Amino acid sequence: MDIIFPNRFIWGASTAAYQIEGAAALDGKGPSVWDTFTHTADKIRSAENGNIACDHYHHYKTDVRLMKELGLHAYRFSTSWTRFFPEGKGKPNLKGRDFYNRLVDELLENNIDPWLCFYHWDLPQALQDKGGWANRDTAFYFSDYVSYVAEQLGDRVNHFALLNEPNVHAVLGHLLGVHAPGITDFSAFVSTLHHLNLATGLGVNRLRVQNSDWKLGTVLSLQPVYPNTDKDEDIEARNLFDAVWNRSVLDPIFKGTYPELLQGMLEDTVQAGDLGQINQPLDFLGMNFYQRIIVESDPKSLVGIRPSMPPKNAQLTDMGWEVYPKAMLEQLLELKNDYGNPVIYITENGAAYKDVFTARGIDDQQRIRYIESHLQMVAQAIEQGVNVQGYFVWSLMDNFEWAEGYAKRFGIVYTDYATQKRIPKASYYWYQKVIHNCGFNVTSM
Ligand code: GCO
Repeated sequence: MDIIFPNRFIWGASTAAYQIEGAAALDGKGPSVWDTFTHTADKIRSAENGNIACDHYHHYKTDVRLMKELGLHAYRFSTSWTRFFPEGKGKPNLKGRDFYNRLVDELLENNIDPWLCFYHWDLPQALQDKGGWANRDTAFYFSDYVSYVAEQLGDRVNHFALLNEPNVHAVLGHLLGVHAPGITDFSAFVSTLHHLNLATGLGVNRLRVQNSDWKLGTVLSLQPVYPNTDKDEDIEARNLFDAVWNRSVLDPIFKGTYPELLQGMLEDTVQAGDLGQINQPLDFLGMNFYQRIIVESDPKSLVGIRPSMPPKNAQLTDMGWEVYPKAMLEQLLELKNDYGNPVIYITENGAAYKDVFTARGIDDQQRIRYIESHLQMVAQAIEQGVNVQGYFVWSLMDNFEWAEGYAKRFGIVYTDYATQKRIPKASYYWYQKVIHNCGFNVTSM
């Protein structure tokens, strides 16, 4: 069966600054919370950090060449706030800015459209020292940073994403403490969640005034949430987790309200006019999707919820995430039916598997099957009227997988960290054909 996508469908790949760039203190870059967190004992598997990562800072031409050979239409990357402003604000660091000038120019010379995300979790440490996202001022410093970056690169960049996964950043970094800045404080989590939403609205407002032609969006990790059983307490846990994980960002942005379940905890944080600031029309929504989530009631845990184990017979990736493509279709249909059918790009989808070297290179058939099965859901969503206009695989290359360090490989290109060699996997060549054919045949490729 042929799975064919619309002619103008955008095929891309995604990365993030801290996960690939390295050069963590080079050319005036200041420390981010991820530089601090990875240099704190017992936070990251095998004490790894992003000091070097994929050294994309120096190898960006090699990486753009790989993108060119892949046939990418667009490349989604994030900028490091502390390369532009080492302390988060004040005098810009022109050497840091010029790295992104070089990267954008190299992409354009290779006919690859640069899609820029202003923030992929790497808050300047200097701002964290002033309270970070729990401090409302940070939302305003963010809008200053965004305005400057767009002014510097916006003559060549046309697609901007304000944030990457504010929901994940708030929960993992400020409630569970397993990501930077490693906070486990409920009130810090609540104010972080709201101030990230406020930052999105303030940023959109600033950019609309600067150039109304720019295409502005944001990137959310969205996942359907299921109760582990049909017991009342599990259904309540599911409803609360769905409100915190998905609707805490979707609803203010698209509906101008917070979910009923969250309004009590936010009342001391939300100020008059905030929701109007946040509820700004976007040109696109980036949706990151990996798996569904199953939760159950757990009175002993922080918020009375805990993730359930995947079903016994579930297929799992190397992250222990369940392979459940149907949930992607479910999520896309919900965006169509409940959120006004926005223009959607799948800005991240992919899988970590243990890659094995063979005489034929890295034959990562599991990763190909994972991507293929999710692309089939995207095609079905489009057939059912969902306005999906592109797909960006996560990730172009293996990179620093946060608390998992370098142990988990998501790339369609293998990164040999000892030599910084890039080795395309079978999935790279498979994706190259998908892009060339704007689709694939399920029985053979
Ligand atoms: C995320 C982040 C990426 C991750 C990827 C795999 O969605 O969590 O955007 O930085 O590396 O998703 O976990």
